Amino acid sequence: MVEPLVIVGAGGFGRETADVVEAINAIAPTWELLGFVDDAPSDVNLERLAARGYDLLGGTDHLVSLDNCAHYVIGVGCPRARRAVADRLRCGRHVPATLVHPAATIGSAVSIGEGTVICAGARLTTNIAVGRHVHVNPSATVGHDTTLGDFVSLNPASSISGDCVIGAGSLVGVGAVVLNQLRVGEDATVGASACVVRDVLDGATVKGVPAR
Ligand SMILES: CC(C)(COP(=O)(O)OP(=O)(O)OC[C@H]1O[C@@H](n2cnc3c(N)ncnc32)[C@H](O)[C@@H]1OP(=O)(O)O)[C@@H](O)C(=O)NCCC(=O)NCCS
Repeated sequence: MVEPLVIVGAGGFGRETADVVEAINAIAPTWELLGFVDDAPSDVNLERLAARGYDLLGGTDHLVSLDNCAHYVIGVGCPRARRAVADRLRCGRHVPATLVHPAATIGSAVSIGEGTVICAGARLTTNIAVGRHVHVNPSATVGHDTTLGDFVSLNPASSISGDCVIGAGSLVGVGAVVLNQLRVGEDATVGASACVVRDVLDGATVKGVPAR
């Protein structure tokens, strides 16, 4: 059965999420994408949305007021902002959708939490736990026995080695590497192209090679 779906956030990742939905539907009709909601869409994002042929339905309150039991997915790239939206929507009747692009590679014993989006070219190997509302961007890789906490963002082409823990709310920048058996704390930021060689404290920002 095809289920109604709303994307929260009309920005870049929100529209990339629409690509994931379209790719899933091209294999088997699964989602009826009703449109987007966004509390403060920029003019340029409104233009880009219109160019894609999608409607801005209104703010997040519109989702709350929808009579049908639409699923939703939060396409907001910033982990902190995404968590705030999820907290707001949590008490409603709507259910987070979990979206995995057909061109992502998901190995054995991988669990994926609700609201998570996994993009094309992402590769997750074996025995991996992915939390709720996680974003795994294009071509990010996640090695064996790793845990990604809720609201983690792995930006494009980032590489998480085996046996790592990426704490809830953390962002790993584009092209960054986390070496094996390391812990990135909660709400931490790993800069673009960094190489993490030791544990990262909760809330810390590290950058460079080696990352400090
Ligand atoms: C590391 C990061 C979080 C720092 O952000 P910030 O605190 O706003 O940093 P600023 O832009 O003010 O730069 C501060 C200094 O760090 C340097 N810097 C910024 N990002 C860096 C990075 N990734 N690696 C090395 N140095 C970096 C800047 O050149 C600047 O150096 P200076 O003080 O010598 O001039 C951010 O630059 C980053 O890499 N975020 C990841 C972004 C990403 O993945 N984007 C892709 C989205 S799909």
